[in-house]
Amino acid sequence: MPAMNELEHAVALLRQGELVAIPTETVYGLAADAANPAAVAKIFALKGRPSDHPLIVHIAGLAQLDDWAIDIPAEARALAEAFWPGPLTLILKRQPHVPDAVTGGQDTVGLRAPSHPLAHALLERFGGGLAAPSANRFGHVSPTTAQHVRDEFGEDSPLILDGGASPVGVESTIVSLVDDTPKLLRPGGVPREAIEALLGRKLEHHQNNKTAKIRASGLLDSHYAPRTPLLLGSAPRLMEEAVQRLASGERVLLLLRTTAASIPRGAELQSLPDDAAHFARELYALLRRHDRKHDVLLMETPPQTPEWLAVNDRLKRAASTRLD
Ligand code: TXA
Ligand code: MG
Repeated sequence: MPAMNELEHAVALLRQGELVAIPTETVYGLAADAANPAAVAKIFALKGRPSDHPLIVHIAGLAQLDDWAIDIPAEARALAEAFWPGPLTLILKRQPHVPDAVTGGQDTVGLRAPSHPLAHALLERFGGGLAAPSANRFGHVSPTTAQHVRDEFGEDSPLILDGGASPVGVESTIVSLVDDTPKLLRPGGVPREAIEALLGRKLEHHQNNKTAKIRASGLLDSHYAPRTPLLLGSAPRLMEEAVQRLASGERVLLLLRTTAASIPRGAELQSLPDDAAHFARELYALLRRHDRKHDVLLMETPPQTPEWLAVNDRLKRAASTRLD
């Protein structure tokens, strides 16, 4: 944990309209004062992100919910009470004062109270809301350590508060409560089933339409993606693929969750955690560590069971091909 004066320094920078990279329990965020459009513009400039993409506003807790949202349904308050602080983002109707720069011009706002102690302490001291996307350049793998953020921005790095490795490792679960039916916009740190149990009804699962459409046309093929092609498949299918690629001289890394009987000669091996929480925690660090060191990453597809939902979602976006 950084010293208290570093926290004060961060608060001062944020008040001046500067950016600060902050640890959260999910991934590191690139934060700016959400009430200051000029500060928020710096996020888009540094990330290289299209400015119509809305940002999540991070708040200290439930007490700030009404500062940012209106017409808040009882279900939203119940979710916030149950899962905040924590990896859950609620999409709600916005207060009119929320800058368009934050909402991408939409009449809704994404809100979340992170549980990371450093992020929480910062938000309490700052008092307002912090707009923060993941602290990576647009389309890159999200950062889960302070060093990842430094690797992303190099000399352009803002102050980075180092809060250690993010314990959840994948982004927050996003639930929209602006219509009559609650919708799951992004699976993440809070399991879908926990939300459904609390609400007493099912969530409709909506793929982010924009992402889906752009991806379908092949324009946004690098979201969450490493530069080295990542292929997903069953262990036996990966072995065949490895043999073929090794024969044509490629450098192959096999990332396997289960123990394989035999690894083709010449392939390198990275074993993967076999439970979903550990896998999620290590996923982005693994993709970063192995990127651009091989010609292809061959990763064993995780089980298609509920606890793997968020991991499978990110892998689907990160992978260039699914072998079976
Ligand atoms: O765990 C997280 O959520 C991390 C940490 C830093 O809090 N943040 C994060 O931010 O993942 P970002 O910008 O990489 O992803 C935010 C997602 C985007 O897919 C965006 O479209 C969606 O949230 N989003 C934000 N505001 C929205 C809104 N008003 N309506 C619909 N989607 C929204
Ligand atoms: Mg992101």
